[in-house]
Amino acid sequence: MMPTGRFENQQSERANTLKRPGLFITLEGIDGTGKSTQYRLLVSYLKKLDCSVCATREPGGTRVGEQIRRVLLDSSTKKMSALAELALMYAARAQHLEEVVRPALTRGQTVLSDRFNDASMAYQGYGRKLGTEIVRALDRIVCGPTQPDLTLMLDLAPGVALRRAQGRELRRNSRHGRFEAEGLKFHERVRRGYLAIARQNPKRIKVVKADRPVNEVQSEIRKLVEEFLARHQRGKALGVRASGRKWRLTCGPQSPMPNH
Ligand code: TMP
Repeated sequence: MMPTGRFENQQSERANTLKRPGLFITLEGIDGTGKSTQYRLLVSYLKKLDCSVCATREPGGTRVGEQIRRVLLDSSTKKMSALAELALMYAARAQHLEEVVRPALTRGQTVLSDRFNDASMAYQGYGRKLGTEIVRALDRIVCGPTQPDLTLMLDLAPGVALRRAQGRELRRNSRHGRFEAEGLKFHERVRRGYLAIARQNPKRIKVVKADRPVNEVQSEIRKLVEEFLARHQRGKALGVRASGRKWRLTCGPQSPMPNH
């Protein structure tokens, strides 16, 4: 049995609150849930609303991080130990936090990251069976109080998700399939991990069913994000306010969108 770490999670939920002007939103889910499509749609929606978004991803988001990503995802990378894999995820994360995430949050931008530290807990902690303690220990060192404020977790049966993910890799003739190449049992553990993390962090993590048409999933995501931004209204610093029945989001100057 994995320890729940409920107390620690509640502590970090509290510690997260409003120490910096920007808000930190992450998207998570097992491979093949359609997460990256939903991420792109959400980024362009927030841009249209004039929200200053820093759109980024993990592993990656920086030059160093993208180099580490290639090693981690390339199926020609053989025999990497689970601990080495976790350490590389956190090495990329340390760079990402220092170069991208923390400066953007300090500027008051809304950071939207395609994956962050819940992925390490789910994939390495549960999927690779490293356990939760070791992931938490690294997380305390690398992320410390910089934790997501809202996480949208796409959920789909691993059998369906894996078929989708493997089909996509095949169509792209991609070599970047080290995680997709893992069997169903691995992805079932990862999903169990994600759902356990969601249960332990009910305020932060919203589970979104992904076995629906893309636009339905996106509508639910937008609603959750709008509600969240409105709830965290902090005067002009964020400029999020309700105007009539529609939320009007004006989150400061537009930020450049890093491509990935
Ligand atoms: P994606 O960016 O296309 O979703 O792929 C990233 C892959 O890396 C995905 O299979 C999940 C995996 N991953 C981890 O195993 N641990 C992590 O901490 C992160 C950020 C990603």
